[in-house]
Amino acid sequence: MTTPDVTRSLWPSAAVTPNPLNGGLPSTDPATAAVTTPVTDPVSAPVTASDAQATQATQPAQPAGLPGQPAAFSPELARRDFPILHRTVNGHPLVWLDNGATTQKPRQVIETLAAFYGSANSNIHRGAHTMAREATEAYEAGRAAVARFLGAPSPDDIVFVRGTTEAINLVAQSWGRANLGPGDDILVPVLEHHSNIVPWQLIAKETRARVVPVPLQPDGQIDLNAYADLLSMRTQLVAISHASNVLGTVPPVREMTALAHRYGAKVLVDGAQAVAHFPVDVQDLDADFYVFSGHKLFAPTGIGALYAKPEILRNMAPWQGGGNMIESVDFTRTTYAPVPHLLEAGTGHISGVVGLLSALNWLTSFDRDAIAAYETSLMAHAQQALSTVPGLELLGSAPDRIAVLTFTLAGHDPTEIAAWLDRDGIAIRAGHHCAQPALAHYGLQSAARASLALYNTPEEVDKLVASLHGLLQAT
Ligand code: ALA
Repeated sequence: MTTPDVTRSLWPSAAVTPNPLNGGLPSTDPATAAVTTPVTDPVSAPVTASDAQATQATQPAQPAGLPGQPAAFSPELARRDFPILHRTVNGHPLVWLDNGATTQKPRQVIETLAAFYGSANSNIHRGAHTMAREATEAYEAGRAAVARFLGAPSPDDIVFVRGTTEAINLVAQSWGRANLGPGDDILVPVLEHHSNIVPWQLIAKETRARVVPVPLQPDGQIDLNAYADLLSMRTQLVAISHASNVLGTVPPVREMTALAHRYGAKVLVDGAQAVAHFPVDVQDLDADFYVFSGHKLFAPTGIGALYAKPEILRNMAPWQGGGNMIESVDFTRTTYAPVPHLLEAGTGHISGVVGLLSALNWLTSFDRDAIAAYETSLMAHAQQALSTVPGLELLGSAPDRIAVLTFTLAGHDPTEIAAWLDRDGIAIRAGHHCAQPALAHYGLQSAARASLALYNTPEEVDKLVASLHGLLQAT
């Protein structure tokens, strides 16, 4: 498979086309031109008249570092790329602390999507024309970028899916149907998101396997002694998150995987909440499957990826049938395309892949260790600041965690807290966070959650804390 150099033009025919996204100046590459083009008219958000007045044009970011070198990171630099962070909500500057649900999109991604539809839209693979070839190259460049991002050996190990949920369902329906049977165990820690529980329940019911919960310690760490005791030759699969969406816990995935492999079990790692926060290397983890969603790392919704070890992927049967995944179709005999195309029936989310490629380029243009260190310091600041709020209890205190701050406030329902904060322009999530067993571990059905990203600042955390103090004074 040809893997084009993504630093060169993805859409050669656009090279001489005036680009409406940079004031009509010719652009040599809509994707990379967007990286350095100032936005003078941020994408319109559904804003009120007063909000619109306060919405400001973003300034151009500093150029990325030298070719091949990541740029220094600062949250101020990063947030300049996000038009939406410059709007107001209910008369206040937006404070977006709902990154666990979805991240905002840098203008590079927004402009790449517009450039794709403005000058490069085509279906892929099957067309015998220039536009189809260019769209195919962009799509496959996205696959190669995902492989590099995850440290996968080859782009052929990457399957595009709608997101983490679809990836897990794909593995359950394809690998699970072929490899699970009566009496087999699927180990699933109690902190998992519903999308890493329910697909296993569905396939376990069909195959008469068992889903076995792995308990948590009070601080939200996985009980590793219990995990070791639960592993057995019956264990076919361990399904674990690389970071919990509700407790923030980052389990020792590499060690847990090594232990599972001693019993011959496969390990699926749900990276939905991890990939935006720290670098991932699937070969270092020795994960059999790794899955993530683009929209949680600054890419569009509706696109995500599944990595599987090549020897596993090669033996996976199709889970959906249709175009793109066949070699030939006949009423007597149909033959199939090789993986990864075998598992991508129908027209893929082409613009989503192009947007994901742009998001990966944007994120990896920064020093990712510096991002992780910044987020750790921001979390420490948030923990300290929130501790000044009387009656506030944080859930989860595992030593290794991402910046997710889930809390309860005595006498206040989480939905009431979220509504109060929203009046101050602060967006958090309230509810069960699609992780009801994790909340039940703390005797809860609902909690409030602030989830931080690289563009959040200590000042924004202070606004959250000030608003919570305001709630206590008002009630
Ligand atoms: N999984 C997303 C969250 O944690 C939706 O909010």
